[in-house]
Amino acid sequence: MLRTHTCGELGEKDIGKAVTLCGWVGGRRDHGNLIFIDVRDGYGLTQIVFDPQLNAAVHRKGEELRAEFVVKVKGVVGKRPAGTENAKLATGMIEVRVADIEVLNKALTPPFEVMDNAVITEESRLKYRYLDLRRPMMQKSLRLRHKVCKVARDYFDERDFVEVETPILTKSTPEGARDYLVPSRVNPGMFYALPQSPQLFKQLLMVSSLDRYFQIAKCFRDEDLRADRQPEFTQFDLEMSFVTEDDIFGICEGLMKKIFKEAGGIELKTPFPRMKYGEAMARFGCDKPDIRFGLELSEITEAVKGCQFKIFQEVIKKGGKIIALSANGCGAYSRGQVDELVELAKTYGAKGLANFKAEGGKLVSQIDKFFSQDELSAIKGMVNASDGDMVFIVADQAKVAYDSMAALRKHLGKKLGLIDEKRFDFLWILDFPLLHYNDDEKRWESEHHPFTSVHPDDVGLLEGGKDLHKIRSRSYDLVINGTEIGSGSIRIHDRVMQELIFKTIGISGEEAKVRFGFLLDAFKYGAPPHGGFAFGLDRLMTFFTGSDSIRDVIAFPKTQKAFCPLTSAPSVVDEKQLTELHIRLKK
Ligand code: AMO
Repeated sequence: MLRTHTCGELGEKDIGKAVTLCGWVGGRRDHGNLIFIDVRDGYGLTQIVFDPQLNAAVHRKGEELRAEFVVKVKGVVGKRPAGTENAKLATGMIEVRVADIEVLNKALTPPFEVMDNAVITEESRLKYRYLDLRRPMMQKSLRLRHKVCKVARDYFDERDFVEVETPILTKSTPEGARDYLVPSRVNPGMFYALPQSPQLFKQLLMVSSLDRYFQIAKCFRDEDLRADRQPEFTQFDLEMSFVTEDDIFGICEGLMKKIFKEAGGIELKTPFPRMKYGEAMARFGCDKPDIRFGLELSEITEAVKGCQFKIFQEVIKKGGKIIALSANGCGAYSRGQVDELVELAKTYGAKGLANFKAEGGKLVSQIDKFFSQDELSAIKGMVNASDGDMVFIVADQAKVAYDSMAALRKHLGKKLGLIDEKRFDFLWILDFPLLHYNDDEKRWESEHHPFTSVHPDDVGLLEGGKDLHKIRSRSYDLVINGTEIGSGSIRIHDRVMQELIFKTIGISGEEAKVRFGFLLDAFKYGAPPHGGFAFGLDRLMTFFTGSDSIRDVIAFPKTQKAFCPLTSAPSVVDEKQLTELHIRLKK
């Protein structure tokens, strides 16, 4: 090695030692004749001092150093003068007094200062990602991700899971997003799909008798991107044979316990609480509730079905729902503050947001004349409002009513400071509906994916083809603080049942054969009962780094427009390449 130590390891124990460090020139401070420079590497930073009294020639070299030059420094470790120590820094008690310095490489002036609290645009961070990644917090994030992967690998290995790589050039998997397609040169007009997940392969591995599979798997989905979505992302993917939900939950809980302890120093309590989908919707308006705070929703449809308020009446007539919550201490909100919340509800499709102040033991509002005292006190009782609170109500079709009220709840939870940011509240959601109706395409679709088992009590409904929306599945999600961190299910292992599901969601026998024939064929040769789960690693990492976006925990992520400013991918390709692929672009 060109160095004796890294820039993150010297301390008081090393005082008096002759050392050689290599790294990048960071912050610089000139004090009279002395020059102080922070030399930074992937491990930390060390302050070096150029003293003209010690060596005038070397001091002159120090004057010529510029930000991000790569240097090799020889010197002696000294104690920092009293009062200049930095307790926040691992090397903050010492400095290296420079005896010689060699510039290993010069650098252009960087487009931004390489430091944690520099203000940098996202575009710039991604374009110069190698500089962005030099920042200590990003180095920490890369190393932590490595550690989390190592802990997971060890955990699975200790439990007899076998890591198997599954193909990247493959066939479409039905995870609900669009596929990324790759044209085949040797099979004109044919395309591979990049896997949305290893779902079908992990099931085939169970048929192969592997029994316990895991993979740190890359997945690709062409979908609208948000802060917690990337076109390519990573899963801790697992599958097991001869299991029930409890076995899978046990493995997943053990993994979370170990990772949070070893990577985050956080002690989790297991087993995690479980909640049925129906209860989550009724209490929180969504299937990934943040249960660190209350502000629970109440459905008041029944209680107001006789009211004179036309908007509520029309919604009830059309089979909609009326959902309310009581915001503690918000009774004195100004018109402007209420309007802000109305606008928020409208972004989720609500046509309005009714509000009632709780005062003098009653609910009062501009619209209270449309309600009887009995109705008002029923609402007040159901949402548990006390004087000084404000009751907000949305009336709409179920999806809009729940979406807008769940968003309002989340917003108020933050605004009212009800969330303890230090807590990690895990929650299993189970008993999801098996199917939902796609109004645009006028057909039933799988809620999770079409390989999910039916709840044993609801098989009759499926076979009868009736009340399809009531059928529950054996799928489950794991939620942390309101974020879906992973999902899985007990799978169908019976060919006849699998075909019935395909038929129910409008996939014809012919289409099923073309798309998933290999799986149906495999099921003819003795498929074991099996089930599995996949964690979103990127989302998981944001809990350790405290980042708002998964782009912070991925080394080379893409923008919201699925573009890579560093490499400029995607980009145009040569006409020759297209010709070889039998592709002609539309002008
Ligand atoms: P699912 O589609 O729910 O299940 O994905 C599992 C988890 O992967 C993460 N995730 C994403 N992370 C970042 N960017 C994305 N675009 C993205 N999409 C999903 C989420 C999610 O909970 N094959 C099934 C799993 C199974 O049934 O075993 C699957 O992929 O954290």
